[in-house]
Amino acid sequence: MLRRLHHEQPESFAFTPANQAWAEGQITKYPEGRQASAIIPLLWRAQEQEGWLTRPAIEYVADMLGLAYIRALEVASFYFMFQLQPTGSIAHIQICGTLSCMLCGAEDLVAVCKETINEKPHTLSADGKFSWEEVECLGSCTNAPMAQIGKDYYEDLTADKLRELLKDLAAGKVPTPGPQNGRYAAEPLSGLTSLTEHESGRHQFNASAQLATDIGDTVKRIDGTEVPILTPWVKGAAKSAPKAEAKPAAKPAAKAAAPKAEAPKAEVVVAEKKPRTMSAPRKAGADDLKRISGVGPKLEALLNEMGFWHFDQIAKWTSEEIAWVDARLKFKGRIERDDWVGQATQYAAEGK
Ligand code: FES
Repeated sequence: MLRRLHHEQPESFAFTPANQAWAEGQITKYPEGRQASAIIPLLWRAQEQEGWLTRPAIEYVADMLGLAYIRALEVASFYFMFQLQPTGSIAHIQICGTLSCMLCGAEDLVAVCKETINEKPHTLSADGKFSWEEVECLGSCTNAPMAQIGKDYYEDLTADKLRELLKDLAAGKVPTPGPQNGRYAAEPLSGLTSLTEHESGRHQFNASAQLATDIGDTVKRIDGTEVPILTPWVKGAAKSAPKAEAKPAAKPAAKAAAPKAEAPKAEVVVAEKKPRTMSAPRKAGADDLKRISGVGPKLEALLNEMGFWHFDQIAKWTSEEIAWVDARLKFKGRIERDDWVGQATQYAAEGK
């Protein structure tokens, strides 16, 4: 399948404040210089927020990570889990069409999707509420045929059962995930013959279905306020976590005994001082600031807007001046982490 950006795109993208804080926390998981590794979680959160990956979202994430847009687009277009076209406002239905499911009736499920959603996969239903696609084995073959709806699995499906699920979802209900034919989990249809006591005595549903029911975000768009942002390895990064839950998170942080050298780094507060800026580049033209690793087209535009056009300007920034610029960037800490001053010094010397 040809995977390309959808022909209609929104004007812009921004993470919700809580998702932004979460994304910044994710980036700190990776060692110095390896922040680009956060690309998949960040793209995924953008998709969880919007329902699909828009071009502005891909570029926004690329900017956060200091990547060229094409690098982020390569990742987004490579993995089929990223939806590059609008998905249903209620749910995107993924029908497994691989062997076990196919033998057990996946074609009937696809027929239901064609009939009730749209003849074509990856296309919205008339009311915009649903979309569907056929996917490869989702690893639930003993409960074939099955579908992933939102985040959860609906197993042991029949065409009628799927129709019913779609009706419930359209009515704003979220049916319980898991087997839909009365099975508890993946035990034989004829009943248990050994280890006859299972969890059903303790939980109403099997572990996955129970957890999905307890969390309750099967088809929900995620705005980041659902769970606390736990980044105990970085002081201050868990700002948007609800206060009551932020406290217990502090314990493992203390136990984890972060490397001594890193602890003071997060606490240092440097006074800000505005660096010398220029209203326009010199006659020979602006330097290509994108050569600095960590600076993408959007950051370059932002720097130009602030009055920075040349490597030698950046090369002269003091700690106070870095703090001033840092405070005005979308993602703080990037200047020092990527050593912009060192890189700019080198490029400025090359220029001379
Ligand atoms: S074949 Fe459908 S889940 Fe494996």
